[in-house]
Amino acid sequence: MKIIIDTDPGVDDAMAIFYAHAAPDIELVGLTTVFGNVWVEQATRNANYLMEFLGADCPVAQGASEPYEITGFKPSAHVHGPEGFGDHVEIETARAPIVESAAEFLVRMARENPGEIVVCAVSPLTNIADAIRLDSDFAANVGRIVIMGGAVDVPGNIRDCAEANIFHDPHAAAEVFASGAKITLVGLDVTMQTLCLREDFTALAEAAPKAGGFLLKISEFYHNFYETVAGKTGCAMHDATAVIAATHMELFTTESSGLTVDLSDTALGKTTRAPSNPPVEICLDIDADAVKARFFDVVARLG
Ligand code: BDR
Ligand code: CA
Repeated sequence: MKIIIDTDPGVDDAMAIFYAHAAPDIELVGLTTVFGNVWVEQATRNANYLMEFLGADCPVAQGASEPYEITGFKPSAHVHGPEGFGDHVEIETARAPIVESAAEFLVRMARENPGEIVVCAVSPLTNIADAIRLDSDFAANVGRIVIMGGAVDVPGNIRDCAEANIFHDPHAAAEVFASGAKITLVGLDVTMQTLCLREDFTALAEAAPKAGGFLLKISEFYHNFYETVAGKTGCAMHDATAVIAATHMELFTTESSGLTVDLSDTALGKTTRAPSNPPVEICLDIDADAVKARFFDVVARLG
């Protein structure tokens, strides 16, 4: 499966990118970057850093630097660290982004490969809405958009009622859900079931010292957030779960329903069912043990 990851790396974004690079059933054909966990320039640098680290040659296209309408955006440094990779702050890369913007790259790739490109959007949806605005055929040309975002029957994370990726650009998300593109929503309903322990990453680092050692190092800060702020034992691999959903839907239980995003001040970013919108596949349950096992098995192959 040809996959583009739209990303704001980000600790769990790095996990998703490592998984996609290692998975035998995925051809990672590009990364597009957006503000979110970090500023977009940091996201682009981090994406290029990961490609260099992995020895991958896929392009990185930079996208949006701010939401459509919300003002005062601030990166989630308390979750992902000041540079996006926890305490790992010396991040240098010789790689540069391509000249095309994220939206231009998404539009061209979907046009050149009609029905084949799966976009895993694991960050605010501004680039995806930009692609829809740029090309009225994008929603039809793209194979599927698998979105890590939303909280349908469970509480949010950045607000009681809202998940972070949707909250950071709710207006863009609303446009994407209304677009008619084939969409799978992989929200907190399922990703909060994928809590991983420090021991899981320690074992991964033993099996795969380079890749696993890197994930062990950058996830320490993320673990601390989950334990001390979120009050959880273990950290969620939100974004990797969305990439796994792209190829292994049999590990998820879904409901088909229209979806909308609340744009009111009191419930900004809340995702709710809306029968009047085009149906999307909403993941409501997950075989979390199988998803976690698949993640650690596949990433261990990186060595
Ligand atoms: C989402 O928000 C970001 O912090 C993570 O990378 C993930 O994409 C989880 O709500
Ligand atoms: Ca992310």
